Amino acid sequence: MFKIIHAQFLAPGIKRFVIEAPRIARKQKPGQFVILRIYEEGERIPVTIENSDPVKGTINIVVQSAGKTTHLLNMLETGDSILDVVGPLGKPSEIRNFGTVVVVGGGVGTAMAYPTAAALKDAGNRVISIVGARNKELVILEKEMRAVSDALLITTDDGSYADKGFVTDKLRQLIENGTRIDLVVAVGPIVMMKAVSALTRKENIHTVVSLNPIMIDGTGMCGGCRVLIDGKSEFACVDGPEFDAHKVNFEVLVQRNAMYRDSERQSMEEFQAREQSASVEPMSRKIGETWGTPSGHATQGEQR
Ligand code: FAD
Ligand code: FES
Ligand code: MG
Repeated sequence: MFKIIHAQFLAPGIKRFVIEAPRIARKQKPGQFVILRIYEEGERIPVTIENSDPVKGTINIVVQSAGKTTHLLNMLETGDSILDVVGPLGKPSEIRNFGTVVVVGGGVGTAMAYPTAAALKDAGNRVISIVGARNKELVILEKEMRAVSDALLITTDDGSYADKGFVTDKLRQLIENGTRIDLVVAVGPIVMMKAVSALTRKENIHTVVSLNPIMIDGTGMCGGCRVLIDGKSEFACVDGPEFDAHKVNFEVLVQRNAMYRDSERQSMEEFQAREQSASVEPMSRKIGETWGTPSGHATQGEQR
């Protein structure tokens, strides 16, 4: 069991957890993730390590409620525990002095991009960060990103905070202003990473994206996270999650991520129905016995 030392909402539906995991905290590098399982019969989900404290033996994760498992996770509170936390997994981000790096974070992707931005800054890069969110409430880690950036540009889709528009508008402006850019790192929704990639391909700017395919075992065995890179199959859990954006087949990623949409919707509906009828308190301590086996894709691995 992995104890939650602290849990706090950063924005509606987005929660940060500080978890006791000394071995992972000692080994973790920027860009890596953990796979966690909340209860015995629950599915495994991958979550990026946002920060770690090797001395205290803790790691931080930031989780956005997307479906059943992330909703359940975000019901956990300080003092609760998570059944399994496996990691660190995946290849770390490539950190060296590239020159000027633009780090783009969309939504919860900002938390995933943060450790890489911090390490790139430490390595001597000039870091320009662009953070985008749907609205003011969903802008996360502004203070943290500012602290590791030479400049921080913020956009909201609805203009409720900072500049109205998309992260790609800011990136385009930087390019049009003649800013020298040696590397772009983009983490966020697939549509955002695809748009960033299309923009930088034209300008021949090396771009790295962190892909988010469905993962199950995280060890390269199940084939669930297969992505198409330069026409070849790779496994995001062991070969990634970061890849050269200009080689990624985003259409295949979108298709594969939608494969279990019906079971995901069904799981979420069952979850909401049970949540309404449940009378247990506190909810988080009863998760296993209250929610039982998810009907999602927990066991729907596929062979390589
Ligand atoms: P569901 O309703 O089951 O699914 C909603 C959508 O999430 C699906 O359509 C699919 O696109 C995706 N998804 C579902 N199951 C999985 C799975 N097992 N693995 C990957 N994607 C899945 N989210 C965060 O909030 N914070 C993070 O730091 C973060 N880091 C990630 C790092 C990696 C390497 C990857 C691959 C994904 C990361 N995600 C992160 C996404 C997160 O794993 C999914 O939102 C979560 O698994 C959804 O589970 P669910 O049951 O709540 O939703
Ligand atoms: Fe990558 Fe199984 S999650 S191969
Ligand atoms: Mg799920």
